[in-house]
Amino acid sequence: MSLNIAMDGPVGAGKSSVADAVAKRLGILHLDTGAMYRALGLKALRDGIDLQDEEKIDALCEGLKLDVRVGENGQETLLDGENVSGLIRTPEVSMAASTVSRYARVRKRMVKLQQELAASRDMILDGRDICTTVLPDADLKIYLTASAEERALRRWKEMRERGDTDSYEEVLSQVRERDEQDMNRPVEPLRQAEDAVLLDSTNLTFEQVIDRIAEMAEEVRHGN
Ligand code: DC
Repeated sequence: MSLNIAMDGPVGAGKSSVADAVAKRLGILHLDTGAMYRALGLKALRDGIDLQDEEKIDALCEGLKLDVRVGENGQETLLDGENVSGLIRTPEVSMAASTVSRYARVRKRMVKLQQELAASRDMILDGRDICTTVLPDADLKIYLTASAEERALRRWKEMRERGDTDSYEEVLSQVRERDEQDMNRPVEPLRQAEDAVLLDSTNLTFEQVIDRIAEMAEEVRHGN
């Protein structure tokens, strides 16, 4: 029987790095579902398509040549055969991803792709609707969060290391703007699933978060 872990949470909660580390610890794979919405956002920006034009974005998504390869050494996101894994990490693409992810048909297509990728493999998926929609029957469901200030601070530090010059206030306002958009969209807004374990990492170290999730996963595994 395969092990599926579902993890949701707001921007900057550290889901992706946490899921990566948990996957390594448990010897399972990690699918970063946000990368898929980011790839669509990047394509729309490149093609100069109005992000507010739902029909055009739906059509773009319908014909999107997206290939997601998940392996032990991480994930590669290929758009029209080009590896865009690094290019989809800019603030501009983040906002574009958040905007295109509001559309119902886009979500339907991405959810289907994610379910196919996760089927019968030991995997942890992170995103916004994994516990609620993508893997409602996951073995373990986690809602990872932290205060907006703490999430902005972590993101700002990461960005500074990459040489970005945005101020902390700018990063905090981007975090709040994306929270607002992700939590208030009409289709599958970000929310904690009733049966998800709440993990607030505001006062926890990265290692403590990994330990807690790995412990819960081992319990589920042995209960299987
Ligand atoms: O996790 P992330 O920051 O890479 O996600 C980028 C955007 O994609 C995020 O603002 C909301 C959207 N998203 C989503 O709606 N559902 C998911 N499962 C993953 C991401």
